Amino acid sequence: MGPPDPILGVTEAFKRDTNPKKMNLGVGAYRDDKGKPFVLSCVRKAEALIAAKQLDKEYLPIGGLGDFTKACAQLALGANNEVLSSGRNITVQTISGTGSLRIGANFLSRFHGGSRDVYLPKPSWGNHTPIFRDAGMQLKAYRYYDPSTCGFDFRGALEDISKIPEQSVILLHACAHNPTGVDPKQEQWKEISDIVKKRNLLVFFDMAYQGFASGDIDRDAWAVRYFIEQGHNILLSQSFAKNMGLYGERVGGFTVVCKDIEESKRVESQLKILIRPIYSNPPMNGARIATTILNTPELRLLWLEEVHGMANRIIKMREQLVAGLKKSGSSHNWQHVIDQIGMFCFTGLKPEQVSKHKKVYNTLMCSDLINIIAFIVSTMCDLSVFASVMGKYVQAIC
Ligand SMILES: Cc1ncc(COP(=O)(O)O)c(C=O)c1O
Repeated sequence: MGPPDPILGVTEAFKRDTNPKKMNLGVGAYRDDKGKPFVLSCVRKAEALIAAKQLDKEYLPIGGLGDFTKACAQLALGANNEVLSSGRNITVQTISGTGSLRIGANFLSRFHGGSRDVYLPKPSWGNHTPIFRDAGMQLKAYRYYDPSTCGFDFRGALEDISKIPEQSVILLHACAHNPTGVDPKQEQWKEISDIVKKRNLLVFFDMAYQGFASGDIDRDAWAVRYFIEQGHNILLSQSFAKNMGLYGERVGGFTVVCKDIEESKRVESQLKILIRPIYSNPPMNGARIATTILNTPELRLLWLEEVHGMANRIIKMREQLVAGLKKSGSSHNWQHVIDQIGMFCFTGLKPEQVSKHKKVYNTLMCSDLINIIAFIVSTMCDLSVFASVMGKYVQAIC
C-alpha cells in the first residue's frame, strides 16, 4: 500500500468526516457562496452552441484540436507576439496542466542536452516533484518563500539562481504561485530574467492561473511575455482548469518556443512521438468548449468578465477574512493573507496548530514540508464562521 496523496488525502479525510460543520480548505477548486462548485455561464453557453452543432466524436490529432492550440498560444503569448507570426512555437493540446508538465518533463528527459537537473522554487506545487522525477529528471531547489515575512525571498532566490549550473532547467510559476500565493513584482521578474540569461538556464513556465491572480489575463501573462521578449526560448505549460472552471474536462496546452520554424517542426514531430504511446490523442470536449469561448467574441467578453469576477471575489475574501479575524479578537498580523495572491495562502500556522485546529474545529487543511499550511481562500463559503473559529483558535494556540 502506498501513502495517500497529501492533497487528495485531505479530501478523502473530509468525505469520511461526519461533522455537519466540516470545512475542506485543501482542494484547489473555486466554489460559490454556498460552497458549491461553480460553472461559468460562458461555459454553459459554449456547451449549448457545441451541442447544437451535433459534431462527431472522431479522434483528435495527436497534438489536439488545431483551433484550440492556436487560441491557447495566443492567449498566453498575446495575439501579436512575433513568436506566433514567425511560426517558431509548437503548441500541443494536453491533459490539463499536469499532462502538459509531464509531456514537457518527458521531452526534457529525452532531449535536453544540458543537465538533468530541474530547479523548483522552495516550496512548489506538490505534484511538480513526482512529475519531473517520474520522467527521469533530478529535482533541485532555489529559495523562494521567506517564512519570516510570509513573502517572496527575492535576495535568496537571486543568490540561489546565480549559482545554478549552466544549462540546467528552472521552473517558474508565471503567476499566483502555488502554494504560497507570493509572486515576484515586475521589477523583480526583470532581474530574474537577467540572471537566468547569464546562467544560460532553460526556463519552464507553469501558468496554471492566467487571469486568476489579478483578474486580467494580460497582466498575469506579463512574466511569460517579458521572458520571450528578452530572448528566452521557453517551455510553457497552460491549464484551463481554474480560469475557465474546466477542472474535470482536462484542458491544457504545452508550448515550446523554438529558434525558428524548422526547429519547431522537429520539436512537433518528437512531441507526437512522445504522446502517441501515452494517451494517443487528447480528449475533445473541453478543448471544444475552451475554443468556442476564446473564438466567439461575445463569449470571450463574458469569460473575461467572469475571470475578473472570480479573481476579485478571492481578493475581497482575503480582506474580509483578515477583518473577521481582527473582529474576533486576533491581534496577530495577518497582512500576508491580503498581500498574497490567487487561490492559495500560506497562513504561517505550524503543523501542530493545524492538527489542533482539526481536532477542535474539524477544519481540514494541508500541512506542507516546511511546516506552514496552505488553505484555499475561495472555498470559504462562510467566512464569518471561519474567521470567528480562527480568531478563537489563534487566541487559544498562539
Ligand atoms: C502550479 C500548478 N500547476 C499545474 C496544476 C495543474 O492542474 P491541472 O492538471 O488540474 O490543470 C496546478 C493545479 O493545482 C497547479 O497549482
